[in-house]
Amino acid sequence: FDNNQPYRTSYHFQPPKNWINDPNGPMIYKGIYHLFYQYNPIGVVWGNIVWAHSTSTDLVNWIPHEHAIYPSHPADINGCWSGSTTILPGDKPAILYTGIDPQNQQVQNLAVPKNLSDPYLREWVKSPKNPLMAPTPMNEINASSFRDPTTAWMGPDGRWRLIIGSKRNQRGLAILYRSKDFIKWTKAQHPLHSAKNTGMWECPDFFPVSTDTPIGVETSVMGPNIKHVLKSSLDNTKHEYYTIGTYNLVKDRYTPDKGSVDSDAGLRYDYGKFYASKTFFDSSKNRRILWGWINESSSVADDVKKGWSGIQAIPRTIWLDKSGKQLLQWPIFEIEQLRTKRVDSPTKVLKGGSMVEISGVTAAQADVEVSFGIKAFEKAEMLDPSWTNPQMICSQKSASVKGGLGPFGFLVLASKGLQEYTAVFFRIFKGQGKYVVLMCSDQSRSSLNNDNDKTTYGAFVDVDPTKEELSLKTLIDHSIVESFGGMGKACITARVYPTLAIHDETHLYVFNNGTESIKISRLSAWSMKKAQIN
Ligand code: FRU
Repeated sequence: FDNNQPYRTSYHFQPPKNWINDPNGPMIYKGIYHLFYQYNPIGVVWGNIVWAHSTSTDLVNWIPHEHAIYPSHPADINGCWSGSTTILPGDKPAILYTGIDPQNQQVQNLAVPKNLSDPYLREWVKSPKNPLMAPTPMNEINASSFRDPTTAWMGPDGRWRLIIGSKRNQRGLAILYRSKDFIKWTKAQHPLHSAKNTGMWECPDFFPVSTDTPIGVETSVMGPNIKHVLKSSLDNTKHEYYTIGTYNLVKDRYTPDKGSVDSDAGLRYDYGKFYASKTFFDSSKNRRILWGWINESSSVADDVKKGWSGIQAIPRTIWLDKSGKQLLQWPIFEIEQLRTKRVDSPTKVLKGGSMVEISGVTAAQADVEVSFGIKAFEKAEMLDPSWTNPQMICSQKSASVKGGLGPFGFLVLASKGLQEYTAVFFRIFKGQGKYVVLMCSDQSRSSLNNDNDKTTYGAFVDVDPTKEELSLKTLIDHSIVESFGGMGKACITARVYPTLAIHDETHLYVFNNGTESIKISRLSAWSMKKAQIN
């Protein structure tokens, strides 16, 4: 162990040092996965942004390359901000990214590989026509709110389309552009979509999902059995939300389905820390993969001490739930190659007020999965109809607040005497004609160091516990707790910085702090090996 680096991760993507933010331009090209990301080459805080670059053959182990895109031309001299890759006909990748020009305006630029036969695509050449899209007095684009172009898709008319995040006053906008040749882009009269009171839309993402299979589809796929997803990262709240809806090809407009909440109160990929995310279609395995940035919850002074800030979440496969009402997510299966020393617990009843240690795994670096079976619901507490915000309920009813059905779940990154722990758990309430499942990630006791942000997170999980078992999976990686409830129906990622529960002083428990007993029908835990990352 490096005792000076108890928070450094062992299987999450991060560079050796400095600041990182958004994942950029993820793709697979000739069997190699590429990840670019926003990076400050000289500091642990945001600034001097370039596109750093790593590649992988399995999305688990990564090798670093020279920076792919860095300020060098007037169209990006003040920064190379987020963007996406599109694979053009003839199997030619193209990057569109936001450049910051000499007037600090946000403009959109093109870069293509210098040498397509370099398997790593290490060098990128910028178009002499840059910027390809820019604010002008004519197009009324706000020059400081015009960024993060998506992967382009091709319409039936053979023209490319993409969206760029923006706002007009407090209305969030997905500005639509079209192009025949990928060089000359024309702004459409109407945005693809907009929503009032959402503020600046950063890093929008727009992609099709199949309605009848979990198989992913390429970004230009349209037609029957397809719905579309629009995601925006809200600069105002630093949360992302998405809607599921219909893309009208004639009008070139997207409409969220009735019931798909089109605001910050809508569905999230992740109810904890997860931002500026982006998907890509993995043509080698016919799946859509989601990358997202997880920032620190520590103070800048502590970031300076450790010399780095920010990581990327484990890539997740993402697909539409059978209900058609939400997405499901699961860590890419490749991450399971790091599992070692499996520990299984026999079926057992976890009595109210009890706690059992899961021993035999490296608890600071582990993967743990449990399924709970609930038979008796009499003790479920009533859900006050005014409790509509799951994060609020979780903050008020932390893991130490005894309940009826729950809290039950994991205590992770826990010290021996429980001076420190992070609790990931469920509570089941009696709602209007149905049971309501709440999932919480409670960081309030995660560290004795009070300089950290220990906000508690929460989500409702759309599972009927009378019909299905309630499952929870948590990936633990020193300072990361990434949890998946209800087989990927709700995800919560947290950053924590224990001072006692580090390395082999870390413990893992399953607990039930309700009055009703809960059955554990399955519990498996693995130690996780270290990945080779950069
Ligand atoms: C999101 C973001 C993007 C921008 C980039 C700059 O985190 O603010 O909107 O392109 O980061 O680094």
